[in-house]
Amino acid sequence: MNKIITIDGPAASGKGTLARELAEALGYAYMDTGALYRAVGYEVLQAGGDPEDEADALKGCRILAAKLGKDGIPVLSNPDLRMERNGDAASKVAIIQSVRDALLDIQRNFADNPGDKYKGAVLDGRDIGTVICPDAPLKLYITASDEIRAQRRMKELHSKGISVTKSAVLEDMRARDARDKARKVAPMRPAEDAIVIDTSVLDAGQVLETALKYVSETLA
Ligand code: DC
Repeated sequence: MNKIITIDGPAASGKGTLARELAEALGYAYMDTGALYRAVGYEVLQAGGDPEDEADALKGCRILAAKLGKDGIPVLSNPDLRMERNGDAASKVAIIQSVRDALLDIQRNFADNPGDKYKGAVLDGRDIGTVICPDAPLKLYITASDEIRAQRRMKELHSKGISVTKSAVLEDMRARDARDKARKVAPMRPAEDAIVIDTSVLDAGQVLETALKYVSETLA
């Protein structure tokens, strides 16, 4: 069986940090699938389109596919993708089934063929354990309280020189979570066989340690 670790969960739960560190520790390739949706949202906004419009969103997918074909995965490291407005646009394009279909193969191909120098793949997102890699041998679902997540996101934005209040962050985050959970296609939820880790009272090192314990039990 392919060595694939899926990590799902809401915004600012710590899933991205865990996915990156886990990939590094294990020599696995890492894909931040939220960055794919953010990149589509970004392309739609750049073109002056509406992220809720299917034709605009599909045009965004085509632009992204062309960029990925030319420059590969590094396209997803564009720091502009981290901006809140692109996160919001991402959550809107993510509701559209045809957008999810357009991004499906990119994610599955990555999971199945991470490259010779890697021993496996870690993907983080919202539907990796449920839709993208339902047969993965290890599925984690990372959560934390709303307050803690808003605090973390605020710190992250402040460190980038972006000034925001905690209540504004909390409001944006709740709106995005509600949209991600309520959508009909591939809603955010733990797979039935996922292990849930609540990171509210854990630091990044403790989360990694917990995850590595599950890795050694399932993938060793
Ligand atoms: O993980 P993130 O905050 O960067 O994701 C941005 C948005 O993209 C998120 O609000 C919903 C969408 N998304 C998704 O629908 N499915 C994924 N696998 C990853 C992200």
